[in-house]
Amino acid sequence: SRSDVGPLFDLMDQVAGFYAEQLASEDGKKAIDYLKRRGVSGAIAKTYQLGYAPEGWNTLASRFNFVALTKAGLLVSKEGGGGYDRFRGRVMFPIRDKRGRVVGFGARVLDDSLPKYLNSPETPIFSKGNEVYGLYELLQSHSRPERILVVEGYMDVVALAQFGIGYAVATLGTSTSKAHMELLFRFSSELVFCFDGDKAGKEAAWRAMEATFPCLKDGRHVKIMLLPEGQDPDSLIRAEGVAAFERGIASAATLSEYFFGRVQDELSLESMEGRAQLINRSKKYLEQLPVGVFREMMYQRLQNLSGFNKLDVLENTATLSKVP
Ligand code: CTP
Ligand code: MN
Ligand code: MN
Ligand code: MN
Ligand code: MN
Repeated sequence: SRSDVGPLFDLMDQVAGFYAEQLASEDGKKAIDYLKRRGVSGAIAKTYQLGYAPEGWNTLASRFNFVALTKAGLLVSKEGGGGYDRFRGRVMFPIRDKRGRVVGFGARVLDDSLPKYLNSPETPIFSKGNEVYGLYELLQSHSRPERILVVEGYMDVVALAQFGIGYAVATLGTSTSKAHMELLFRFSSELVFCFDGDKAGKEAAWRAMEATFPCLKDGRHVKIMLLPEGQDPDSLIRAEGVAAFERGIASAATLSEYFFGRVQDELSLESMEGRAQLINRSKKYLEQLPVGVFREMMYQRLQNLSGFNKLDVLENTATLSKVP
């Protein structure tokens, strides 16, 4: 219940404050140097309350309540009792819920060692499938954002904000879920997926688009911005500047363009076989769209592409003819 988790929120807040203090300490100099090398300004580090987790194994346990730390996922439990600090020698990104309460952390190493990022585990106050990074900070500057950019990484959100694009959020190293999208659509009617220009990013974009179909009521829009190979939002905005990045947002593909492009991959619509396959590939997605004009137009498009005008025969739920 609420009263059980109150102390957890307090602890997370204190730990975020502690990590931020460590960044400013002698020990934190290497983290500051790292952030400087990556072009992160002091001001933006403050806005996102970036911090540093010192290298010791017992830093938090010697300062905060052991049971609460364990519950908050800040310690790794040892067999036979006890535990040690989960985050050591890393730059810390506090993850806030939409009300601004710290619910978890992302943590990056300062070099090339692995794993590059560690994240808080699931706890009574943190569930990766329900939270996005940067939403609270976004809402501080935009109460009704025209659009929200959905990116992959903590550093992407921070870099974009530093360049004046303060309307990006990141999923937390997991796929974009339906819950993420429902959360974001509460604040904006347009989501732009802007994932890394690599194989993983392309796959993430397709999966995010898949998950988005059931959410696409009329009036909600999804776009997909594909980045050049090898770039992510952080590297791209630093390389090309904010104007070029904003042009990229403006020319992002609509979901319908992207979907019908991708779904035709390696199909030849010259043949009946190819057109039948197109229908079979598309059907399972279009079926999930909420009833409305957009759904009907997507079916119409499939009908035009395939030349098959009996799509309603294949469908038992809502159909072209059944819609009021
Ligand atoms: N991620 C993670 N665990 C990893 C690698 C990645 O949780 N071992 C998550 C992080 O949230 C990360 C995101 O996936 O921000 C995207 O990963 P990637 O593109 O590899 O990292 P970047 O965000 O680009 O990080 P950086 O620029 O610091 O290398
Ligand atoms: Mn703005
Ligand atoms: Mn990547
Ligand atoms: Mn990056
Ligand atoms: Mn990246």
